[in-house]
Amino acid sequence: MDFKSVWEGMEECQKLGLTKSIGVSNFSCKKLEILLATAKIPPAVNQVERNPLWQQKKLREFCETKGIVITAYSPLGANGTPWGTKGVMECEVLKQIADAKRKTLAQVCLRWVYEQGVSLVVKSFNKDRIQENIGIFDWELSPQEVDKINQIPQNRGFPAINFIADEGPYKCVHEFWDGEI
Ligand SMILES: NC(=O)c1ccc[n+]([C@@H]2O[C@H](COP(=O)([O-])OP(=O)(O)OC[C@H]3O[C@@H](n4cnc5c(N)ncnc54)[C@H](OP(=O)(O)O)[C@@H]3O)[C@@H](O)[C@H]2O)c1
Repeated sequence: MDFKSVWEGMEECQKLGLTKSIGVSNFSCKKLEILLATAKIPPAVNQVERNPLWQQKKLREFCETKGIVITAYSPLGANGTPWGTKGVMECEVLKQIADAKRKTLAQVCLRWVYEQGVSLVVKSFNKDRIQENIGIFDWELSPQEVDKINQIPQNRGFPAINFIADEGPYKCVHEFWDGEI
């Protein structure tokens, strides 16, 4: 993919006032480095999968040093969607924390993402669940709970296998994610 030309076009959009900010999605540290090497305007944001089962510590640290905000997508593991997994919503560690705090597992996930200082996009078409998902601002996770979440084994929920093709730019998921998998 020609990141340089696409990014120049996006920079032009911002200069023309057609957009307030420009950003990227699903960029690894390596792809960000390639982009930053020629970018005149750095990306404001990198929207990536982020939840307790895919915490992306390396990417988060990298983005922090470059002043790029992370937006977490699939913060609940996209449970119930064609691209998602049940892993997050069935995680025992999260269940135990949720029970002990009298919160839902979804709220524990969202609060964890929020406490990481990143923005997040969670999706629900259900009024009660939307209400539930907003109820994360008047309580916090203890350091012990955060520590337990930090120890959850890591698995990327969305490996993007549908973007892999023998004749395409990415021949395997390791290439697509630059080894961050
Ligand atoms: N940039 C990208 O490549 C990328 C990739 C994936 C997703 N995204 C975006 O990220 C946003 C959210 O991610 P997502 O939809 O993949 O995953 P998500 O927000 O982690 O999960 C959404 C699923 O969880 C359910 N849900 C929501 N709140 C719940 C709760 N409190 N308890 C139980 N289930 C709950 C929803 O069902 P109900 O609707 O029935 O509540 C839906 O099936 C979307 O806007 C999406 O477009 C971006």
